[in-house]
This record gives sequence, structure tokens and C-alpha cells, in this order.
Amino acid sequence: MYNILISDGLQEKAINNLINLGFNITDKHYNKEDLGEALKEYDALVIRSATKVTRDILEVAKEGKLKLIVRAGVGVDNIDVIAADEFGITVRNTPNSSSDSVAELALAHMFAVARFVGTSNYTMRNGEWNKKKYEGVELSGKTLGIVGMGRIGRSLADKATALGMKVVYNDAFGKVDGVKYNFVELNELLSASDFISLHVPYDKNLGSLIGKKELEIMKDGVYLINCARGRVVDEEALLEALDNGKIAGAGIDVFEIEPNTNEALVNHPRVSCTPHIGASTMEAQERIGDEVVSVIKEFF
Ligand code: MLT
Repeated sequence: MYNILISDGLQEKAINNLINLGFNITDKHYNKEDLGEALKEYDALVIRSATKVTRDILEVAKEGKLKLIVRAGVGVDNIDVIAADEFGITVRNTPNSSSDSVAELALAHMFAVARFVGTSNYTMRNGEWNKKKYEGVELSGKTLGIVGMGRIGRSLADKATALGMKVVYNDAFGKVDGVKYNFVELNELLSASDFISLHVPYDKNLGSLIGKKELEIMKDGVYLINCARGRVVDEEALLEALDNGKIAGAGIDVFEIEPNTNEALVNHPRVSCTPHIGASTMEAQERIGDEVVSVIKEFF
């Protein structure tokens, strides 16, 4: 019988499916001081974003039975993948499940910043009626630059095209096979796009993909959406670009520090923000649960 620790919760259906398959499930969140020792008793660990699996934790856990870590989500940046590999522990994620949910949230932020949806909500609650002030722009006819043409980027491209947007994209791996949209170099994308949406992981060796220099290349009055990872954008440079009007609006789901501590950014009148909820839909969570079960079943 294999023991599985579910550290950040998982869909009930997925837990029941694992139990029915004969796995021994513990649904418990350990604090970081105790996690390494506790993991010695488990064959697999399932996490979302709250648990950080650091080298220190793995150094302790490697003395035990741990063979598999499953990230119920796309990004594996909360796992020291290099250390896990060194200690013979497999790391898997669920890349197929949340693309539409994240793409829809990116679109929701695009609409929100283009039409002052969030800002109107709080100003109206303060008794303001800013009909004249909130003249927005249409998405239709605008150029959307998508940085990162993986599953989420492709889903967003299809949805944006249906709304009448023109899509260009850039990807670190170059032109993506089977993608019908126009590939352009990053600087061209930055200078040509009315809306830019980021769908790339954070690479700590490269640092922020969008900093002061990249913001300067962008069109005046561009809208920037980040539903990828907080550090992909330099928040200080973004705030400056919002203040000086270079950026007309920013839709942000992810932050350099989470939970967010950058009050100035989330309180900016031209920012639409959400607390890292890209994959937080019933549909995505159900698919993630199913994908976690398949990964574990296949592994053992
Ligand atoms: C992911 O990496 O799957 C998303 O950012 C969602 C999450 O971390 O909760």
C-alpha cells in the first residue's frame, strides 16, 4: 500500500478516486519545519502553491520513501526540481487542466482594464458616478501580443481572435509548430501590441522578463496583463509606467510576493487585480484532480 500526503487540499472526488484505487491518503498540511521528517513515511506528495518543497526539506525526506511529487497545477516553481532530480524523486505537474481558466481570467482582466470595470465598482460604492471619466477602448480590432505560446497562450489566442483581436506571439522556443498566429521577435511584439499578455514561467537566471527597458519599448497607452508569475514583471518599473501614463492599465493575478504586499500596485486606479486565481474554477480544479489521479496511477 502506497502512502500519499495531500498537503494543500485536493478535490474530494480525486481523493475518493485515490482511496478507491487502494492508496492510503493523508490530507494534512505540515509546517515547513516538520515536512521533511513527515515525508519519510510517504511515497508521494501532492501540493498546490502553498507548500514550498525546498532543498532542505528534500535533504531530510530523501532518507525515507518519497518517490514522487505532484504539483496540482502548472508552475513547479515552488519545488526545488534540481534537488528532487538529484535525490531520485520524480516531479510531475498537471499542465493540461487549467489553460482555459487562466486564458479566461486574462481576458477578464483585459475587459476590466479597458472598461474600468473594477475601478467603477469601488468608486460607485463610494457614491461616485464617473460616466464621463470612464471612456474606455474596445478589444475588437486591437493587436494582442501573447508572450509564451504554450497551452494557455494558445487558448487565449483563439478566444481573442473570436473577439476580433489580431494576435501576434513570441515564444522562447521560437515559432511554435501548428500555431497559425504570427510569430514576431519580442521587441517587435512589445512595440506593436495594444494589449500584452504574459504566459511564461519565471526564470530566476534571467530575472524579470518585463522591466524598465521593455516597458519603454511598448506603445504609449498599452495594457499589460500578467496571469503567469509575479516576478516575470518588475513591479517597481510597472508602477512607474502606470504613474507616468505609459501603461494605460494593468491586469495582475500574480505578485512578486504572495500574499501580495505591494499596496501601491493593487490600489492603483488603473490596476485590475485578483489574488492568484487563474486556475481557481470548478472545472479546472475538477480536471486537475482527475489529472493528479492519472499521474499517480500511472506512476505506481
Ligand atoms: C499554476 O501554476 O497552475 C497556477 O498558477 C495556479 C496556482 O498556482 O494555483
